[in-house]
Amino acid sequence: MIYPERPTLMRRASRSCVACIGVAASLMVSARTVRGQHAAQDRANAVSASAVRTGAPDTLRQPPILRNLSRKRGTVEVELTASVVRLALKPGAPTEAFAFNGSVPGPTIDVHEGDRVIVHFRNDLPEPTTIHWHGLHIPADMDGSPLAPIAPGARYDYVFTIKRGTAGTYWYHPHPDMRSGYQIAKGLFGAFIVRAADDPLKSVPEKLLILSDNRFRADGTVDFAEPRSSEGMRDEVNGREGDLLFVNGQLAPSLRIRSGQLQRWRVINVAASRVFRLALDNHRLLHVGSDGGLFERPVEVGQIDLANSERVELLVRGTGAPGERALLRAMPYDRYVPQTRPADWQTPRDLLTLAYSPAPRVRATAVPTTLRRIAPLDTLKATATHVIVLSQGLINGRMMDMHRVDEHASLGATEIWQVENLVGMDHPFHLHGFQFQVIDRAGVPEPFPSWKDVVNVRKHEIVRIIVRYDDFPGLWMYHCHILDHEDHGMMGVLEVRSPPPPPRELP
Ligand code: C2O
Ligand code: CU
Ligand code: CU
Repeated sequence: MIYPERPTLMRRASRSCVACIGVAASLMVSARTVRGQHAAQDRANAVSASAVRTGAPDTLRQPPILRNLSRKRGTVEVELTASVVRLALKPGAPTEAFAFNGSVPGPTIDVHEGDRVIVHFRNDLPEPTTIHWHGLHIPADMDGSPLAPIAPGARYDYVFTIKRGTAGTYWYHPHPDMRSGYQIAKGLFGAFIVRAADDPLKSVPEKLLILSDNRFRADGTVDFAEPRSSEGMRDEVNGREGDLLFVNGQLAPSLRIRSGQLQRWRVINVAASRVFRLALDNHRLLHVGSDGGLFERPVEVGQIDLANSERVELLVRGTGAPGERALLRAMPYDRYVPQTRPADWQTPRDLLTLAYSPAPRVRATAVPTTLRRIAPLDTLKATATHVIVLSQGLINGRMMDMHRVDEHASLGATEIWQVENLVGMDHPFHLHGFQFQVIDRAGVPEPFPSWKDVVNVRKHEIVRIIVRYDDFPGLWMYHCHILDHEDHGMMGVLEVRSPPPPPRELP
């Protein structure tokens, strides 16, 4: 395959300080679109593309489940290829996109606890990439971090085993140095679902909702602002936002429910920076899980804040009447500094229509009161506290350097991370490889334990989390998950080391 032009990658050396909003404009990565495309390639991909259609509201589609090539029990062997495709990310405007196996979102990887997973990956992109298995507790060399880029044209097998107790909703996305935001915006993201044999909600019909946003030029190409433009500067500060909001790559689709029916939704926010404050008209939601799986008990709420890269599991009870409709909306959420807050930030945005079938109400399914046990990590067992100070674009005053280890920890240790946000905008903080529990936010104890891998640290807030490194020594990233911030170095490296062997007596 021939790619006419390669986007320029910015050098690490030219990554400079983003500490002040005023200078932000000069610091954008030059995110040029790869122009031109082989006509043959276009035709080949047009068929497989999950393009957005125009016209009446589409029924929400579920991304295809990636086919398991293995016949062996407990083995999931799949193939994933990232390539340049031509498809309509936006209705009616085919454009050049990046896709996993030709579709946006990419296919869903659906596995069980205990499974051995083998992903044969091929990078057909004109630039280096990786696949990062966001939230999975797997060996460091399989993490797909910026430390292990896959060159254009190269192949790599990601092989790992899914631990017991980690059932939940995860996702996969590229994580190359300084290019994650670009590649994800071009279409590279997909869901990774881990199931437990004893899932208490096994019998509840399930829907996957991958939320994203994007922005396009008139010609349909993905719009990346010129670094020095005012838009580029706003992206740099806020994180890139799009005016179009998608569910599974579709604009305002509709989802069928029967009156009385119970549905389980797994929701993933893959947007670069947008926080979705989810509310469903005339419905209360049962919040049943977060990043690392189910809570102990369902919690009834009116709305749910979903920061970028976070996941929620929720139960929707079909309390409406046959034939009724209800809108799932993104309500206003102010995560911005006033200087760069979008003018229309207070406008609620429609995501999806929940459409009740005309069929008569069915008897409501009972919701289990206990979902599973989560042992709280004990702060008295913590042997260290890492203080992580977030300022605009920096962590502890520094930008990421892949050749520097910023934080050290011992395998098996339990530690606290105190994440302090100094600035007037939210920064969602993510730790690779390990699920943690939130201890408190702004001094308010977390009401119940849950497993998370990202926590939104709000304006001027201090959040404390606790984590146990029960396995997998190596180098792990932690970073702000606003992709523009991450790509510009708002990231650090944690090294988890095996403790030295106990002293032994020499003969
Ligand atoms: Cu979603 Cu460093 O990752
Ligand atoms: Cu991650
Ligand atoms: Cu940030």
